[in-house]
Amino acid sequence: RNAMPQAVEPPATLDQARQAALQCRRCKLCEAATQTVWGEGAADAAVMIVGEQPGDHEDLTGRPFAGPAGQLLRGMIADAGLDGAQIWLTNAVKHFKFAPRGKRRLHRNPARDEIRHCRWWLGLELAFVRPRVTLALGASAAFALTDDDRPMHRRRGTVETGLHGGPVLISWHPAHILRLPDPDRRNHARLQLAEDLARLVSLAE
Ligand code: URA
Repeated sequence: RNAMPQAVEPPATLDQARQAALQCRRCKLCEAATQTVWGEGAADAAVMIVGEQPGDHEDLTGRPFAGPAGQLLRGMIADAGLDGAQIWLTNAVKHFKFAPRGKRRLHRNPARDEIRHCRWWLGLELAFVRPRVTLALGASAAFALTDDDRPMHRRRGTVETGLHGGPVLISWHPAHILRLPDPDRRNHARLQLAEDLARLVSLAE
């Protein structure tokens, strides 16, 4: 398979974009992943939430945020008072990147070029859904949306302007929160994400 961008007509609808993304070969991640994990939610959502990339569960089920990080995030979204009809949930990168380790598949961070290739799809989601505000979860989503790769600890809780021209609130990725070994720091980061989700609700109004 070649990694050259495909010469295709730009999709005219969100559903056409999804159909095209299912066939994507813009980078090599499609070779090992099971399937494209497209966004889900309301096509006219006021809020778009962007994660990094599908993990093991998402790769197998085809749904974003279907695993442990997704459980945490979905619970916190509900606690913030957002319902599914208000949200488009997606990832910066649409294929799972992993390293095989015995029977397990270990998550690997997407490279900048992989994020750049996949921006085509994220850009289409933004263009069709036209959210009022976008939440970037973690550094990969923040880079995808803003092309800025400054470290997260300086940016979390701030609103930046995305490449698409709209506001992007930056927060911690739920998987990052789950991985923090110290319970106090984990709790603190979780409270910060809750704070950011509450702010997202008011920015969307
Ligand atoms: N982590 C992500 O960034 N996205 C998912 O869909 C699942 C875990």
